[in-house]
Amino acid sequence: MAKELRIVRKVWMKPRGKFITLEGPEGSGKSTHARLLAARLRSAGQAVAVTREPGGTPLGEKLRRLLQHDSASEGMSAETETLLFMASRAELVRQVIAPALARGAWVVCDRFADSTTAYQGYGRGINIKTILTLNSLATGSLTPDLTILLDLTVKAGFARLHRRNQRVRAQKDRLEREALAFHERVRAGYRKLARRWPQRIKVINAARQVAAVQADIWRLTQHVLRA
Ligand SMILES: Nc1ncnc2c1ncn2[C@@H]1O[C@H](COP(=O)(O)OP(=O)(O)OP(=O)(O)O)[C@@H](O)[C@H]1O
Ligand SMILES: [Mg+2]
Repeated sequence: MAKELRIVRKVWMKPRGKFITLEGPEGSGKSTHARLLAARLRSAGQAVAVTREPGGTPLGEKLRRLLQHDSASEGMSAETETLLFMASRAELVRQVIAPALARGAWVVCDRFADSTTAYQGYGRGINIKTILTLNSLATGSLTPDLTILLDLTVKAGFARLHRRNQRVRAQKDRLEREALAFHERVRAGYRKLARRWPQRIKVINAARQVAAVQADIWRLTQHVLRA
């Protein structure tokens, strides 16, 4: 563990719960499995905070609406987009995640820092090193104990989204409307991240039934529970 991270952990959060993030391309099941994992941890007797990105704080939820559905964000530069996601993250870490961990609760977060590396880095072409540096500013170098990467083809993910959006009468958000090639770069980018940090990021085949995916997530979580 990096010295800087050890110091952050020591100062910010003792005793500390565990921090799990769910990542993956559009429609891969992040929100579904964040809910299921939180419920299962609670029935195992753990205190759990579930949150999401962008969002999770009053300011973050405003940024979420701006990033996803506000016409003011149409055509914004990739740099602006990156910084708005970072701003949401900086708030979420300080207002929600770090305090929950400090109380000893588990935190389950639907998207986190890897999303920006995948989407704005690999997807939009912002320099990866720059994103990693900005991420460490936004997160105060707080890193998840476990990141579940729900891996699914872009086509399958969009088929799920389409069904979900029809059911709840929702429109595609700004990022969902990006070209297929963009989403392919995002998926490939996520897989690169998993190869770079294999200890932290575990890839799960998300094309299977919810119960099978959930069982894999729970098995990985139990390793963290025992650590
Ligand atoms: N394993 C699965 N098999 C079939 N459908 C699934 C599976 N997992 C999730 N779904 C369905 O696919 C849709 C998308 O799932 P979900 O909203 O959890 O994905 P997400 O990764 O959070 O999407 P987004 O990127 O839009 O936030 C939902 O309608 C959900 O019920
Ligand atoms: Mg979701």
